[in-house]
Amino acid sequence: MGRFYVTTPIYYVNDVPHLGTAYTTVVADALRRFHLAIGDETFMLTGTDEHGQKIERQAREEGLAPKEFCDRISERFKDAWPKLDVAYDRFIRTTDPDHEAFVKDLWEKIAKNGDLYLGHYEDWYCVGCEAFKTEKELAQPGNLCPIHKKPVERVKEETYFFKLSRWEKPLLELYAKRPGFIQPETRRNEVLSFVQSGLKDLSCSRTSFTWGIPVPNDPKHVMYVWFDALSNYRSALGAGDLARFWAPSAKVLHLVGKDILRFHTVFWPAFLLSAGYKEEELPDAVFAHGFLTIDGQKMGKSLRNAVDPLKIAAELGPDVLRYQLLRAIAFGQDGDFDHAALVERYNADLGKNLGNLLSRTLGLCAKLNDGRVPAMGPKTGLEEDLFARTKELLASARAAWLGLEPHRALEATWAISAAANQYVDRAAPWAAVKTDPARAHTHLATLLEVLAVLSAAIWPAMPRKSDAMRAQLGLEPLRTAIGTDVFPTAMGGALTAGAPLAPAGPLFPTYDEKAEKELLARLVPKVEEKETKVETTNAPAPAPAAPEGASAAITYDDFAKVDLRVGVVLTCEKVPKKDKLLRLTVDLGEAEPRQIVAGLALSFTAEALVGRKVVVVANLAPRDFGKGLVSHGMLLASGPSEALQLATVVDAPPGARLK
Ligand code: MSP
Repeated sequence: MGRFYVTTPIYYVNDVPHLGTAYTTVVADALRRFHLAIGDETFMLTGTDEHGQKIERQAREEGLAPKEFCDRISERFKDAWPKLDVAYDRFIRTTDPDHEAFVKDLWEKIAKNGDLYLGHYEDWYCVGCEAFKTEKELAQPGNLCPIHKKPVERVKEETYFFKLSRWEKPLLELYAKRPGFIQPETRRNEVLSFVQSGLKDLSCSRTSFTWGIPVPNDPKHVMYVWFDALSNYRSALGAGDLARFWAPSAKVLHLVGKDILRFHTVFWPAFLLSAGYKEEELPDAVFAHGFLTIDGQKMGKSLRNAVDPLKIAAELGPDVLRYQLLRAIAFGQDGDFDHAALVERYNADLGKNLGNLLSRTLGLCAKLNDGRVPAMGPKTGLEEDLFARTKELLASARAAWLGLEPHRALEATWAISAAANQYVDRAAPWAAVKTDPARAHTHLATLLEVLAVLSAAIWPAMPRKSDAMRAQLGLEPLRTAIGTDVFPTAMGGALTAGAPLAPAGPLFPTYDEKAEKELLARLVPKVEEKETKVETTNAPAPAPAAPEGASAAITYDDFAKVDLRVGVVLTCEKVPKKDKLLRLTVDLGEAEPRQIVAGLALSFTAEALVGRKVVVVANLAPRDFGKGLVSHGMLLASGPSEALQLATVVDAPPGARLK
């Protein structure tokens, strides 16, 4: 018996559950179930990442206090996963008191060991990533984050630095000693070269906003959200679970997307080592999976929110979604979630292969043996081959699950079903019964044994269908127990001759052409181009299409008189003695940047605007604010003056005209 502790990333509450986050969560649950099946004691952790500037801003946009906003979205995650038959052991929130206590303790340990020092930081920050970016990483023009394609912000503030540079050598030694720490191999090489190229100390606290865990003894600082977030993997385990699941005898596996590998393989072990944890107290492995596209398209926020994993699960059952996620995408590589392929695979692998094997076998048993399990007679070469092949494929499936290759595990499992279908065709029990009924009974007994094995082998991926299949075979649901390995190794002995079978219709009813078209029409979303906002359950109703009080219609010519241009904020500062005003210089693609004075100071710090793309009314007559302070344009924004949102255009260069 072993112990297996598997974690998903904790998800930011600026988004609701989507196919990308469902993916990691489903894989984690399937791995957990596999380990349970082989008799391991398991613990699965998931949860939500709730602090930081991004969440604070989003809450403000929604008009809610940050905690209230987090409560609502966190609940959506907590409720979503069980609908995909994910059974986590703990759902952690970074606003949980025990988490906060752990993080403060970790901070204090690191401080005591001399790895935190106060300094000043000035660099680029992407709020989307909640990460600092080097000048080199930015896309030009416009200082854009390479991941979010949005302008990064200039951050200049007092900060506690974590002495990451001190851990460069120990980390490289760790990677060398433990080749399996970073998986898959290609990702390991990326991290190695990143660390080899030199580690800079890490800014680990912020002072320009307050939504975070306060730094012990210096509460004007809140901790860097990743310091807080990464700690969840340990803070989630109470003393008893910690001793059992974060021990040398347990395997600790973090599943993450490739975009957040560096945080988990560089920062996280460095924090732990710095706090005094020993090398054997580090996680065993961090596995980075790839990114999913949907029907060949990148999962932008609009598309991502339009494809609802819960809707797919409601239409086809959670098992079908789980199967597709686990089978269609090679774990570790980028992959596509294609709706048409989902239905195709449903019909082929599930309906025609496995489902049909079950119905035809039970149908024959009803016809030839009164719906009972027939007696197994002497085996011939045909049966011997099937028994041997099944054994071999079960071993491959087990090895693939252990090797974090669920797609291969399912490939091997379905190859058993295909081999059994070939066996029925060759054995032809419907013909054999005419001359040798005992032989036909052996055929059917053999098929039932294969089905029994399959019903157990699919359980990690498809727990519900496993139960349904077993019920039809007259078997109890697969019962797991610590110390007992019930993942099948070979067929034989699962069924008793004479026991009643309980056929209950097709396991995967197939869709005819018309039904398939209708299903696809329901599943494939029509994506609106605009960015969709996160919907909270109690969110106010969306604004009607033609709001009351809308201005009178104007002609296109009227509109064309307004020269709207894309600008990039180059500098920004507060106007002395004016609470609301900021003085900006904005690049509009002209020979000289323009000076614009805007009433934004109640919503933005000056630093937060530098680098941002804005929409400027470029032909507004200049406005004199007195003492020579003249504004040559106006920025477009919406909302009350203390919670303004700036209009922006993501992919256009400075000076581009909006029309
Ligand atoms: N809160 C951090 C993680 C902190 S863990 C200590 C975070 N959250 S996230 O919600 O933005 O992303 C969570 C995970 O979802 C990441 O692993 C990311 O890779 C994954 N995915 C987001 N979009 C995805 C796809 N399109 N495809 C696959 N996974 C995707 O980062």
